[in-house]
Amino acid sequence: MFGHRPNRRRIDPSSYIVRLSNLIGVLVSTFRHLDSHQLEKGKRRRRRSKNLSRSYTFVRIRGLKMEVNKEKYAADLSSIEAARARISSFIHKTPVMTSESLDAISGRKLFFKCECFQKGGAFKFRGACNAIFSLDDQQAAKGVVTHSRFLPFILHMFSFPCYLIGLDLTTFFKISGNHAAALALAAKLRGIPAYVVIPKNAPQCKVRNVVRYGGQVIWSESTMQSREETATKVLQETGAALIHPFNDGRIISGQGTISLELLEQSPQIDTIIVPISGGGLISGVALAAKSINPAIRILAAEPKGANDAAQSKAVGRIVTLTETNTVADGLRAFLGELTWPVVRDLVDDIITVDDTEIIDAMRLCYEILKVAVEPSGAIGLAAVLSDSFRNNPAWKDCNQIGIILSGGNVDLQVLWNSFRK
Ligand SMILES: Cc1ncc(COP(=O)(O)O)c(C=O)c1O
Repeated sequence: MFGHRPNRRRIDPSSYIVRLSNLIGVLVSTFRHLDSHQLEKGKRRRRRSKNLSRSYTFVRIRGLKMEVNKEKYAADLSSIEAARARISSFIHKTPVMTSESLDAISGRKLFFKCECFQKGGAFKFRGACNAIFSLDDQQAAKGVVTHSRFLPFILHMFSFPCYLIGLDLTTFFKISGNHAAALALAAKLRGIPAYVVIPKNAPQCKVRNVVRYGGQVIWSESTMQSREETATKVLQETGAALIHPFNDGRIISGQGTISLELLEQSPQIDTIIVPISGGGLISGVALAAKSINPAIRILAAEPKGANDAAQSKAVGRIVTLTETNTVADGLRAFLGELTWPVVRDLVDDIITVDDTEIIDAMRLCYEILKVAVEPSGAIGLAAVLSDSFRNNPAWKDCNQIGIILSGGNVDLQVLWNSFRK
């Protein structure tokens, strides 16, 4: 019933020895016959990798020492130092404030970098100034153009119930026009035109700031398509340079000057907490700070209702959201392709907070620091006071914390009216 099993072939060990020696022979002769061209190519490759390794640096990310390629970022310490030299006579060196009461509440030593006192009321002036003063005379003469965001539908919905109880969020929390206003102001200093495309339904306070600084308002319909078409038309007609609010090396370098100042003013800082939206601010801050002190921690603060950066870090690629919902109107943009690599490699973590926490932090800034901060500007304090930060063992050693109060552009009309009643 069982078939005949063929005999196993006997293996002669000497045949293996013969095969092995043949193989060695082939390898030796191949190596001998490598022509000089191939050897030269190999040497070049080794030389290139040696040069590349020089452009790498070590930084500490999530407690680990990691190698990152300095060459792949849109800015570096030298471009940030060059930005400082370019803009220092135009910008304010903003103060660093401390408060024993807030230290007691947070359980850490806090250093508030008051960019709400920057010209134009926000850090944005640094980047805008650097971009505008980097233009050559011929390009500058044609002016600059930008278009700004407006209140999304979802925030209008959120605002309506508040309106019914007498609080109008659309006017209380000024719409983020910080980049547009900063650009208009920097252009005025250089004596060149700034064209700002603004939708017809934009709140007056935003328009007022741009006009106050001499910007030329170009009206568009409220749709994104209309805004972009209008901006393109202005570009074609004027030849002006389009200055992006964050996805631009000159903007990132300008924002990075904050770290140069902060770490001179308070060198003991071991952690910096930075609001994040498009990522221009945190990219500049992280690139400069980690070059000066590779051990420093950079934490981003982001609203839960616009947590695209936290999601991007979690999945390792840029994530965009279909809608955002937060009072922090300056923090609703998504990361760009120039800011994402810096956020991916140099930002240690992203702390998300809800709007109640942001508003509570804003109130503490008014009450204790006596500083007018907008919601986007107060989010760093909200992050430091949040349970997710306090209870995370990874951050228990963050004892000397720099917080960027990034802006103070709030329309206080509603508050003022309530005093008059
Ligand atoms: C006050 C304020 N803080 C922070 C940010 C976030 O900056 P970035 O878009 O560079 O991340 C903005 C952006 O408009 C802002 O207006």
